[in-house]
Order: sequence, then structure tokens, then C-alpha cells
Amino acid sequence: MTRTVYVNGEYLPETEAKVSIFDRGFLMADAVYEVTSVLDGKLIDFHGHAVRLARSLSELDMQQPCSETELLEVHRELVRLNEIDEGLVYLQVTRGSDGDRDFVFPSEEVKPTLVLFTQNKPGLADNPAARKGARIISIEDVRWGRRDIKTTQLLYPSMGKMMAKAAGCDDAWLVEDGHVTEGTSNNAYFVKGGKIVTRPLSKDILHGITRKAVLRLAQEAQMEVEERLFTVDEAKSADEAFTTSASAFVMPVVEIDGVQLGDGTPGPIARRLREIYLDESRKSAI
Ligand code: PDD
Repeated sequence: MTRTVYVNGEYLPETEAKVSIFDRGFLMADAVYEVTSVLDGKLIDFHGHAVRLARSLSELDMQQPCSETELLEVHRELVRLNEIDEGLVYLQVTRGSDGDRDFVFPSEEVKPTLVLFTQNKPGLADNPAARKGARIISIEDVRWGRRDIKTTQLLYPSMGKMMAKAAGCDDAWLVEDGHVTEGTSNNAYFVKGGKIVTRPLSKDILHGITRKAVLRLAQEAQMEVEERLFTVDEAKSADEAFTTSASAFVMPVVEIDGVQLGDGTPGPIARRLREIYLDESRKSAI
């Protein structure tokens, strides 16, 4: 099926959607993005994603392409047109194009480019990978210093996933100054003695929308949470570990750098959090 996508105010077949070769998203990765999950044909945590998008844009002095209400309308229309029951909506805003290449930002008259498309992913919630758990490698974090801004500079995270694949694993955790920052495309946690440990928010990591919801739900379920720096060695000697993201929700981790965690199957806290998160998200989806 040919998808219907959205480009600057128009709904088009994917084969007819076009963006200029001079677009700064293409030339400079001068762009930010959001990924919102869809369950039962409804959007999960839309408002959280819209708020983070607004923050990313403002941190980069980029214009807001439209209001949150208009964005919601476009998300819903794409989900409807593409008949998405479970999947993702990808949104990207770039600084647009003034018809040439220049490091200096173009004038305010140049309008941002807004692109959205859906990804149909039946079985996103009941994912067999989550029943198996992920095997992780750790690699050095060499990304830029503003990881709190959700830019499309994703070459190193892509390389990290390829390094994991080459090692026969599923994903990589990034390590800076001896401490885990986050996963290539997710936030990272370990559990020891019933306590959930994750790195505190700063410019070093993306402020995950799923992270926020999962930490709130964990606290509501009387689980202990500690936000502090942690090393890969601590995570390796943990009872269990997991990651969170809009695209994989709560994903148990069963191995880090070849070291098996617990009995090598998803731990009880990660499994419980995944269940609670999915239940609660379905209830509050819009
Ligand atoms: N990635 N950290 C990084 C580096 C990420 O790229 C992501 C999300 C997260 C989790 O954020 P959230 O819970 O808001 O999805 C953390 C998305 C899913 C992606 O790039 O596809």
C-alpha cells in the first residue's frame, strides 16, 4: 500500500512527496524530530511529544511550523488515512531552504519544512523481542553535547546499532567518562535489590517521554527509583536492566557486554513496568 504522507500543508502519496535538495535538514542535519507511538489507532503521549518538539525548536531558534492543535490534527489524519492500528508517526521539522548552501541560518522569512509519515507496525505492543529481552554492548559516547535536543544527527546512533549487530547483539549503550548516558535510541536503567536506577536529566541525554511516564508509574506502584550516574559494571552486576522509548516502550535487557543478567530472561520489574505502561498508555491515548 502506498502511504499518504504530509509535507508542508499537503497530504500526498509518498511517491509524490518532495523536499528541496537545498533543505537544511538534508544539507546540515538542521532539523528536529519526534516519534509518537500509536496503539488501537490512538496516539500515545501526544502532548508530551508536542511539548518536547516546541522545546527542541526553541533551543535552536527554529520557528514553530504550526500550533499543537494543528499538529494533533495532522497526526490523527495520517493515522486515519493509513489505517494504522499499531505503529508510529514520525515528524520532522527542518529550518527549511533558501535555495543555496550556507552555514549561516537563513532569514526569518524562510519557512520551516514540516514532514510527517506513518510506520505501520502490527504487533508493536505484543513484541516477541520484549519477551526475549535485548542483548546490549557498551560503546563510547562521541555524540555532541546537546543530546537533550532531539535533532536528526543520528549517524553515530546508527553506527552504534551497526556495531551491536556486528557483535551479534541488539543494541548499544553509550558511555561517557565511565558512566552510561543512554541507549542509541532509548533511555537506560538497571535494577538492583528492587531499586530502579537511571541517569538524571541533563544536556547529556534525551528527556524521554516514555522515561517520564515509566518513572511516574514505577513510583505509583511503590517501586523505588534513584536518578544518579551509573557505570556499565554496575549495570552488569544488576538483577535486571531495561530501556524505554516511544518505539519499544519498556524493553527488558538480558545481557550487557556478554554478561548475562539474572537468569538471562526479562526481569520481573521490567516485565511489570511494560505491562503497566501499556495499560496506562492505552487508557490515556487520544
Ligand atoms: N528515540 N534517547 C534517545 C537517544 C532517543 O533517540 C530516544 C527516542 C529516547 C527515548 O525517548 P522517548 O521515550 O521520548 O521515545 C532516548 C526515538 C524513538 C527514535 O529515534 O526512533
